Amino acid sequence: MTRIAVFISGRGSNFMALHENIKKGIIKDAEISVVFSNKEDAKGLDYAKKENIEVIVIPSKDYNNRQEYDKKIVEALKPYNIDLICLAGYMRIVTHELIKAYENKIINIHPALLPSFKGLHAQKQALEYGVKYSGCTVHFVDDGMDSGAIILQKIVEVYDDDTEDTLSERILKQEHIAYSEAVSLITSGKVVINGRKVSIKG
Ligand code: GAR
Repeated sequence: MTRIAVFISGRGSNFMALHENIKKGIIKDAEISVVFSNKEDAKGLDYAKKENIEVIVIPSKDYNNRQEYDKKIVEALKPYNIDLICLAGYMRIVTHELIKAYENKIINIHPALLPSFKGLHAQKQALEYGVKYSGCTVHFVDDGMDSGAIILQKIVEVYDDDTEDTLSERILKQEHIAYSEAVSLITSGKVVINGRKVSIKG
C-alpha cells in the first residue's frame, strides 16, 4: 500500500480526482493518508474533511524562512510514514529540506508542457506566446522550479478564441487524467528514474 500525502493551496480538484480514482480502484494499492495545506481556507480541505481524510494545516504566512517552514512539514508528516507526496496546486516552492527527506518521492502537476511556461499563470503565458498546443506535465520535484524529470505529459490544442479560463478548463480535464495515470505508474513500480530521464517499464 502506497501512503500518499497530497499538498494543496486552494480548490483541490486534482486532489479530489486522485481520491476518487483510488476509491474506484483505478489507482490500486494506494491511499491518501493525509492532505497538507499551507492555507487554512483552502477549498479542497472541505472535501478532505467530508471524506474523513486527515488534514494538516501549517499557515505559511506565519513563516519568513522557507527552510524552517519545510522542516516543520517534515516533522508533521513523520507519523504518517508517507511513500509519495503529490503536489496538487500547492503554490509554494519547496526547499531542499523537504526534497532531501523525500528524495524522488515528490511529484507535481503543472498546467503546461514543460520546460515551456514554468511558474505562475502557465496557461496565460502559453496563450500570450501564441502556441498552438499546450497541456500538462507530471514531473518529479527537484531543487529548481518546475524543472524535475518528466513522468508524463498530455497535449491540449489551443483555439484562436481561447481565453485563459477556457484553456485552463480544458487543460484541467487532462490534468485529472494525467495525475492518476502517473500515480498508478509509480504505485505499480513501473517508473524508473535515470537522471533527467524517466522510463516506464513494460
Ligand atoms: C492546477 O491547474 C495545477 O496544475 C496548477 O494549479 C491548479 C490547481 O488546481 N498548479 C500550478 O500552477 C503549479 N505551478 P486544483 O487546486 O483544482 O488542483
